[in-house]
Amino acid sequence: MVTAHIGADHRTLTLVWPDGQTAAYPAIFLRDNCPSGFHPQTLEREFDLTSVPLDIQIASAGVEGRELVIRWATEDLVSRFSQDWLEAHKPGQRFTDPASVRPKLWRSDLTKQDLPRASARDLLANDEALFDFLVGAKTTGLAIVDGMANDADAGMSIARRIGFLRETNFGVTFEVMSKPDPNNLAYTSHALPLHTDLPNQELAPGYQFLHCLANDAEGGGSTFADGFAIAADLAQSDLDAFDLLANTPVPFRFQDGDYDIRKHHTVIQLDNGGTVSEVRFNAHIASVFDMPAEQMDAYYRAYRTIMAMTRDPAYVMTTRLDAGEMVIFDNRRALHGRAAFDPSTGFRHLRGCYVDRGEFDSRIRVLSRRLKTALAA
Ligand code: OGA
Ligand code: ZN
Repeated sequence: MVTAHIGADHRTLTLVWPDGQTAAYPAIFLRDNCPSGFHPQTLEREFDLTSVPLDIQIASAGVEGRELVIRWATEDLVSRFSQDWLEAHKPGQRFTDPASVRPKLWRSDLTKQDLPRASARDLLANDEALFDFLVGAKTTGLAIVDGMANDADAGMSIARRIGFLRETNFGVTFEVMSKPDPNNLAYTSHALPLHTDLPNQELAPGYQFLHCLANDAEGGGSTFADGFAIAADLAQSDLDAFDLLANTPVPFRFQDGDYDIRKHHTVIQLDNGGTVSEVRFNAHIASVFDMPAEQMDAYYRAYRTIMAMTRDPAYVMTTRLDAGEMVIFDNRRALHGRAAFDPSTGFRHLRGCYVDRGEFDSRIRVLSRRLKTALAA
């Protein structure tokens, strides 16, 4: 059984579990999270932190069954916490998140056959298949859906099963084909070197969906690379270059008749823990560097080093999409590209859309919750 011990100043509570684990909970933290302060339906906090003193004191604490019962020194309130909640919210410990998966890095030895894969039919009809696929796609940052209907909206139907679509200046969906009067290199038949889409946006789109409707032209093969693997290897081989890419914001810009969308970003983004959380690499919309002249040589050296890595066969997975396949990748991690194609030899048409990481993760969590409930029933 858990035992509860109030600190001498009545401002912390220490719990000791039978296996010897302990956790110390500040009184203000417990008061802020008292279940009575949350709306029972929306689960949102209604409690006003300024309504209690910061040095709020615990009068008594006792264990009743699976609950911890706290009485407060200056308030006529009984707070009841479940032991499960207390265990899940030990201070200093991130509470479990089904969407928190460790990325599995890959290099050129990964083949299309190795990728997480599911059929469109399973993803549309089966929550378990969708959950497994999303976790796999997040782990690898790249996955394939096959058996797609020969219908331009089929990709959107799968994407919408995951979350709402991220609209951009190219639309809710975009047609990747050789077009007259293109406003994007993707809409030509030219080769596209490995890149991530739209780092010129304040937040680059998260997951990208590219449904291959036709790939009959000569050329037009696909390339992919794991930006996290490239960044990890760069940190090992050239820490100076890694640091410059992680700490120097550079401008990205897209412009056409209707838009001029610009943002400074670092090529490598670190999260608060110093882990690489995003890679932005797109030489075609990198704008004119604007750092002081005396920093340029060093930055160009770093930038050219990572660019050379995106050309290095050690990192580039080369494949070809077939009609009826859709590739899904984390556009803030995986780089994608294509070989030039000859439109006079056949038709090539991909249709794309995006779902941001937040919605993708939310779907993983909700499916995880539903599948657990279904299992327990
Ligand atoms: C794009 C793109 C790849 C392809 O549309 O952003 O990179 O295979 N397309 O055409
Ligand atoms: Zn692209």
